[in-house]
Amino acid sequence: MVRFKMGYNKGHQDCMTIQFYEKGVTTMKRIGLLTSGGDCQALNATMRGVVKGLSSNVSDLEVYGFMNGYKGLIYGDYRMLTSNDFSGILTKGGTILGTSRQPFKLMRVPDENGLDKVEAMKQNYYKLRLDCLVILGGNGTQKTANLLREEGLNIIHLPKTIDNDIYGTDMTFGFQSAVDIATDAIDCIHTTAASHNRVFLVEIMGHKVGWLTLHAGIAGGADIILIPEIPYDIDKVIEAINRRTAAGKGFTILAVAEGAISKEDAKLSKKELKEKMKDYKYPSVSYELADRIFEKTGVEVRITVPGHTQRGGSPCPYDRVLSTRLGAAAADLIMKEEYGYMVAMVNNKVKKVPLGDVAGKLKMVSPDDQLIKHAKLIGISFGD
Ligand code: F6P
Repeated sequence: MVRFKMGYNKGHQDCMTIQFYEKGVTTMKRIGLLTSGGDCQALNATMRGVVKGLSSNVSDLEVYGFMNGYKGLIYGDYRMLTSNDFSGILTKGGTILGTSRQPFKLMRVPDENGLDKVEAMKQNYYKLRLDCLVILGGNGTQKTANLLREEGLNIIHLPKTIDNDIYGTDMTFGFQSAVDIATDAIDCIHTTAASHNRVFLVEIMGHKVGWLTLHAGIAGGADIILIPEIPYDIDKVIEAINRRTAAGKGFTILAVAEGAISKEDAKLSKKELKEKMKDYKYPSVSYELADRIFEKTGVEVRITVPGHTQRGGSPCPYDRVLSTRLGAAAADLIMKEEYGYMVAMVNNKVKKVPLGDVAGKLKMVSPDDQLIKHAKLIGISFGD
């Protein structure tokens, strides 16, 4: 059994809201790590931050990695990790632990063999006598993390997602890396769009929010940006395209969030929308939009969906720094035995945010956001 045995590191700075651990050498810590939900680029970098933070300060550290998200915690699929596991992973995308989607709403529902999942997770935690379970994930993951906290486990949550939709933190790790990739996709479209005089739609991930599309759209110089928080009017979209044509611009680029919605659809109740979607003939929103644009303008339309490339590859330098900071701050909380928090970035300071205050909330783009105002000021249309 390889353990982490390291010296105490006094090199802390005191600029963070979280007060750093200063008591001296902590003798023994036993922590669990798991990554759950869709992956992203900086999961490994964040786990590395946690483990390096602990191993530099704790004389005897045991780290258990649960495989494939909550599945590993439920079914006792874990392995003890050594310092080698955290070496060379700062730049490595994906997750060394694997991940899976385990919907929160099914956590209280027994599995096909009648297993009580919550009880099973608690038993595995207690069996390993963990001091803390560090959970990396997005909104759904966070809800289960909070449930486990309510059940009495020591939990730290680290906010992961390319969608940047976690309430209580300005930034999630993975987001900036995905912005880079989505921006690159739009950049590449620019040259071909200009040569062909076409309308191009680039469909960008982000689930039900528009952060990724908004940032990549602005960074990539999109002419029209459609996000879920600002339902679009197809006539306004056409107007914006026509305005460009009238101004002698041969092409138009639309950055379309995968969750973009028309004004008519936004008025429907959840039930009505579900009913309508039963007969939906398009693979995604961009294809419907493309049809409508072509019908109304007769201009050639092309669609690009970068899809999961947005979650792939290495974390960008911003994410590496963010992950290292969040991971280090999580280690600090563990050493101080302060549990039940999400480690967040608020106004460029790392803060601990009570999980109970944020779990289940979504951070959406406000149509009044300054970023939207600035984008509109330079002529970007939001189709509203
Ligand atoms: O939440 C991250 C995300 O990439 C969303 O942007 C997207 O809607 C979803 O995950 C895709 O999920 P999956 O990988 O399960 O298809």
